[in-house]
Amino acid sequence: MTEAEAVAVFDCLVKDMQAGYAKSDHDVAVNFLSYRIYSRVPYVSDTHGGRYVHNYANEVGKAYGAFEQAGTLPAGTQLAKPSFGVKGNGQVSVGPLFVMEKMSAGFNEDSGDWRYTMIMPNGSTFGTTDGAGSDKVEFCIGCHLSVTPDQDSIMLMPEEARIN
Ligand code: HEC
Repeated sequence: MTEAEAVAVFDCLVKDMQAGYAKSDHDVAVNFLSYRIYSRVPYVSDTHGGRYVHNYANEVGKAYGAFEQAGTLPAGTQLAKPSFGVKGNGQVSVGPLFVMEKMSAGFNEDSGDWRYTMIMPNGSTFGTTDGAGSDKVEFCIGCHLSVTPDQDSIMLMPEEARIN
């Protein structure tokens, strides 16, 4: 799929995407389209199921846009990664919404106080750190902790996908 095609697919799916995710009533799922977008085009994320993704951050988390220089993000930061999948036959479909929220200090030492949530296309919550299905999103923490501690679990987008 070319960049232009990926953009067109996202535009075509975005309404359904938002409507589905929002059924979860999760703050980020309801509001992420009003956040700033940090990806130029949808890009393939092998670590999120090989799906095409975009990255958004709310106002509190705007330091995300400094990428390697972002440092520790403040409590109240919300990062959203909507996704879509493409099958071999070219059929496209909405994928999960991946969410990271920086909670207040002491929320969860093992996750660096990040709450990871995965919301399915129909709005059901697959799992959320320290809530329902917490064990099912533990794998998020494992991978995101693999960066150096001063990067605060932020993995960062491939450079060619960033808006500069
Ligand atoms: C195997 C490693 C891996 C796993 C597992 C993983 N991620 Fe990520 N995540 C990444 C990488 C690498 C990036 C940045 C590049 C990209 O977008 O592909 C990223 C980026 C993100 C971002 C954007 C903020 C950032 O770090 O730049 C969010 C939000 C996110 N992931 C949420 C999740 C959630 C929620 C889960 C679990 C359901 C999860 N991730 C599981 C590796 C992983």
